[in-house]
Amino acid sequence: MQKEILYERIIEQLKELFEKSDDPVARMATISALLYHKIDYYFWCGFYLLKDDELIVGPYQGPLACLKLAHNKGVCWAGVREKKAIIVPDVHQFPDHIACDERSQSEIVVPVFKPDGSVYGVIDGDSDKPASFDETDARYLQIIAGLIFQK
Ligand code: SME
Repeated sequence: MQKEILYERIIEQLKELFEKSDDPVARMATISALLYHKIDYYFWCGFYLLKDDELIVGPYQGPLACLKLAHNKGVCWAGVREKKAIIVPDVHQFPDHIACDERSQSEIVVPVFKPDGSVYGVIDGDSDKPASFDETDARYLQIIAGLIFQK
């Protein structure tokens, strides 16, 4: 199935589910579960949250991940620094990529903003195949990130 259709369905489902709670952790857990289980190229899907200038793992689905990411290295930190989606078709070509799991081949990171516009953390998606993520994933993940703090 086309990824646009999958994301559209997931977003509809998330909006409905989020009527029950505006708790950000509950929403992030729900986002991770739906993306991981509904889109087959997600080998890992979850959140890293900015706390005291560190990136600490949040809700996720998939294999065990790093609890804390080395400061200012890797794809997640690039997303925080640049405040935009980072698409990595081949993680081995990304300078200082942090491999929490050696099977990861491609990756996408999209920043999550708080209502005041500051960075709350990132959504991170990993695939065990190269070049799984593109601008379409980035566009929909930005919409999904925007739902976390929506009333
Ligand atoms: N690869 C990420 C680290 C997190 S894992 O992919 C779950 C990075 O380079 O920031």
